[in-house]
Amino acid sequence: MVKPDGVQRALIGKILQRIEEKGFKIVAMKLALMPVEKAKEHYVEHVGKKFYQDLVDFITSGPCVSMVIEGRGAITAMRKMNGATNPVDAVSGTIRGDLAIETGRNVVHGSDSTASATREIALHFCSGELVAYKRIDEEWLYE
Ligand code: RTP
Ligand code: MG
Repeated sequence: MVKPDGVQRALIGKILQRIEEKGFKIVAMKLALMPVEKAKEHYVEHVGKKFYQDLVDFITSGPCVSMVIEGRGAITAMRKMNGATNPVDAVSGTIRGDLAIETGRNVVHGSDSTASATREIALHFCSGELVAYKRIDEEWLYE
């Protein structure tokens, strides 16, 4: 997900370019303003933490671009491409390392496990919005 700061800072294209050039397949994508109730559900694992309310306020402050990314090792690789949660710790070459300064404005979100990806996909998309297709370069991406 490109968070509201990424959308406002016109970084959608740069972030999509990294995902596409890596070889991962975008199988669903939408720009939407997240309702507060959905944001609370999205970040349910953080209920009770000191940053929870700020996080919900921020993620609902403007549109996000939500995506379903498909590819071998996509969850782990996308987390690496996003970089450490605190951009100070995110290495150069990662999205947060290159494009962000503070934890609360770290530009992207990525699901952290198969279980959370499954849960988050169901929260942001209905099944008909996921499109199965073959990329023309798949033979050149996979052995
Ligand atoms: P994300 O869920 O957004 O992909 O980020 P993450 O897994 O790297 O980090 P997570 O621990 O899940 O935290 C979710 C988001 O909450 C904000 N945060 N603020 N002030 C703080 O200490 C703090 N810690 C986390 C960040 O925006 C983080 O991405
Ligand atoms: Mg997280």
